[in-house]
Amino acid sequence: MLDFEESGTSSYVSRGYVTASTSRRSSKLTVNTAAPIVVIPEIEKTVVPISSSLDPITIGVKRPQADDIKIIGGRGYDLRQPIPVKYQEIRDRFLLARKNYWVPNDIPMGEDKLQWKISQLTEAEMWLFKSNISYLTASDNLVPDNLDNAILQHITANEMRQYLRWQIAEESNHLESYLFILESFGLDEQGQGQIFSLYQEIPELTNKLNWNLKFTNNLVNSEAPVGSMEANRYLLEDLISYYVFEYLFFPLGFSQIFALARKGKLRNTAQQYSYIWRDENLHATNGLWLIRQIIKENPKLWEVKMQERARAIVNEAVKLETAYAHASLPDGGILGMSVGTYIEFAKFMANNVCKNLRLKLLFPSRDHPMPWISEYELNQEVNFFEGRVREYQTGSQLQWD
Ligand SMILES: [Fe+2]
Ligand SMILES: [Fe+2]
Repeated sequence: MLDFEESGTSSYVSRGYVTASTSRRSSKLTVNTAAPIVVIPEIEKTVVPISSSLDPITIGVKRPQADDIKIIGGRGYDLRQPIPVKYQEIRDRFLLARKNYWVPNDIPMGEDKLQWKISQLTEAEMWLFKSNISYLTASDNLVPDNLDNAILQHITANEMRQYLRWQIAEESNHLESYLFILESFGLDEQGQGQIFSLYQEIPELTNKLNWNLKFTNNLVNSEAPVGSMEANRYLLEDLISYYVFEYLFFPLGFSQIFALARKGKLRNTAQQYSYIWRDENLHATNGLWLIRQIIKENPKLWEVKMQERARAIVNEAVKLETAYAHASLPDGGILGMSVGTYIEFAKFMANNVCKNLRLKLLFPSRDHPMPWISEYELNQEVNFFEGRVREYQTGSQLQWD
């Protein structure tokens, strides 16, 4: 390769231009005085690539310092190094999540099985349950797939990668929970299959799922190099849709079964959902933190256009949730939950998303339309069934705040 400074035969120099070198090799300038002088900065010759989990392990590379580590776009260090832990709060979340480990099979399902057998649910309640569990099952497939296929390759802090891998296992546990619920009702494969398939039959469910999938695919299929502004924009959009999933779509879905449990129906299923919700709460907390940290480290990403886009994404989510509400509650609701209240809850949560992202609210501010739902949050002091919460917390110093 030609050395600009020594040979004087590069295209710029041969045309009489001057190269102001930023190379470490030389600061000399080569000038052809016969032509007008235009100073063009030389493009940095050595660009350190963004660290990737697919990088081969290299002998002798020094360990990163905390200052080197970035949440995305980190360069020049090996992602497999677990120290230094730059973001202690992520590690704390990992340890908390591990303490929350639970097993669906340990939650007794006898009461629900009996109710199912003697058809204690009305037709509308049965439809609600079936469409609900079908949607949630597909959702809990989409979330880990998004992390695995799209998001993880952008994350360059080992502690976040570690947390997200644990989250993938938790999502898997949630799927196990849905499967266990239907198995415990005594449904055979055909019966279970008919329920699980509803997300491929009800357009409002399909549309809602495809909406999240679109953001994953936009990121995966983008030809923009990892770390570029364009790729980071797709990443941010995908993370906002992920946050909507964890913070809005999931609790809304769980609330439908909690409404049944309030009337003494499917209380065992509701308990499964409470455990899932506790996990999703932590996923949402981590997702929000991740979005904020990316913005903090890359403030140019959070331009006005991107903020407007984020707001539009949240608004789209409410529209999809509204359509889902009408599909799962076609008669205007069930006793204990009207479609109107459900949609108000969606708007309430959408406003919270906006608040948490420091965006202008989308809807008029109002009180929580379903304050009773907190009874089903396991991270509250309220213990609504049998005191199993504490049994599952394997750590002795669990702090909820
Ligand atoms: Fe999940
Ligand atoms: Fe989750």
